[in-house]
Amino acid sequence: MSVRGFIFCCLLAISIAQDETNNKLFPKDFMFGAATASYQVEGAWDEDGKGENIWDHHIHSSPELIANNDTGDVACDSYHKYKEDVAMLKELGVDFYRFSLSWSRILPTGFVNKVNLPGVTYYQNLIKELKDNGIEPLITIYHWDLPQPLQDIGGWPSEFIVEAFAEYARLCFELFGDNVKYWLTFNEPYQICIGGYGLGYNAPGIKLTGLGDYMCAHHILQAHAKAWHIYDQEFRATQQGQVSITIDTMWYEPASDSEEDLVAAERALQFDFGWYANPIYNSDYPEIMKTRIAERSLAEGFKQSRLPAFTDEEIAYISGTFDYMGVNMYTSMLAAAKDEVPIAEPSYFYDLGIDGYQPDDWESASISTSKITPWGIRKFLNWLKETYNNPAIIVTENGIPDNSSVIDDVKRVRFYRDYLSNVRSAIEDGVNVIGYAAWSLMDNFEWGLGYTQKFGLYHVDFDSINRTRTPKTSAAYYKKVAETHCLVDTCEE
Ligand code: NOJ
Repeated sequence: MSVRGFIFCCLLAISIAQDETNNKLFPKDFMFGAATASYQVEGAWDEDGKGENIWDHHIHSSPELIANNDTGDVACDSYHKYKEDVAMLKELGVDFYRFSLSWSRILPTGFVNKVNLPGVTYYQNLIKELKDNGIEPLITIYHWDLPQPLQDIGGWPSEFIVEAFAEYARLCFELFGDNVKYWLTFNEPYQICIGGYGLGYNAPGIKLTGLGDYMCAHHILQAHAKAWHIYDQEFRATQQGQVSITIDTMWYEPASDSEEDLVAAERALQFDFGWYANPIYNSDYPEIMKTRIAERSLAEGFKQSRLPAFTDEEIAYISGTFDYMGVNMYTSMLAAAKDEVPIAEPSYFYDLGIDGYQPDDWESASISTSKITPWGIRKFLNWLKETYNNPAIIVTENGIPDNSSVIDDVKRVRFYRDYLSNVRSAIEDGVNVIGYAAWSLMDNFEWGLGYTQKFGLYHVDFDSINRTRTPKTSAAYYKKVAETHCLVDTCEE
């Protein structure tokens, strides 16, 4: 059956629950998209002059850290199959494709002295293919794959990285910016820093919680700001695009209506999301982080806070470096107050000091910690509106994993319907949400979980050399939503 035939046949089979789903049309100019990231889909890890990055290195040197010893060496082979990817996007009828650039495919050493032309051509071709098909590129400049040579000299916790990233970003604007309206400097800095330099579950696997993560964040914020200013001063007038950063969080719901739990939930949001968002959308790190980390650091015997301080100039330079707000949100957690953890080793989580948990009776996706909480996204979006002065928001990722190769993924259909319903309700609440991207366009390499967890609207057969792509039932539903702007059978204006 052709892809088109499959999609229409599945669409008929979907029973769209009308009951509690928001039945208002999404605004006409609301943008629907789908997302991926370079290391997770491209493969061709050492082809055509690409340099080694921290995920290549991490996986090749410690294969046991990844489920089934999986690697991203070939992944979805999008380096060779990008035209198929664009055909899928076209079939879905989405407005934009969010993908990321592999820094070491463009700059094999990480520095701008050597530009790898085949890498540049690959992205130029992808962008052209998208534009020819009426799909806007939304480009993430950095989605976790740092060139290994830059890690060898310190990576994100080292100051030199700010300038290295700024030069890389400038080159990206120069090379691709004439055809790009939406940019993101970074994807999920929390995961880069906590995962890479705090708990060590992401590359480069450094375990220095309460220190490495804070230093990493400090430079990411400066690097983001520098890239935004470069765009603003050198490119905005001619390219007229928009630059932001995508920050992720769970929604933290107070475990009870006690004052202590309300405080704990707000603290969790500030430590998780506000850590990055407050310096950019307001100014400086959240007060609660500055106070708690300084107190605990001194009690631990440090001479100064483990949270580095910005100068007044830096605070002013970072504040306001956004043209819209990018957010990734998947799940929620209950937050409860807890007794202060006795002074011991440095730890981001001791600094945070709350009890976070997900009740067993919340519905799970395939990963038990990824509970399905559609109501959380509405609360989160409203919190963003209140906390950051109602910015224009693009939900740059939202989705659900499963651990089998199911094509008739009715649970994912329900997930998208219910989360999008809450996004629509948030718009009615007055939140300025302008776009939404499903994670992911297709099944891909899910970091430490390898290929065991599948998020795709399209199934990818990782056992076939062709990496055959097949639309799932969720692709049919998402296509209907992207085309009609309606979550149910018929919508009201
Ligand atoms: C967050 C990350 O941006 C993406 O790389 C990851 O695959 C998805 N969420 C799902 O975990």
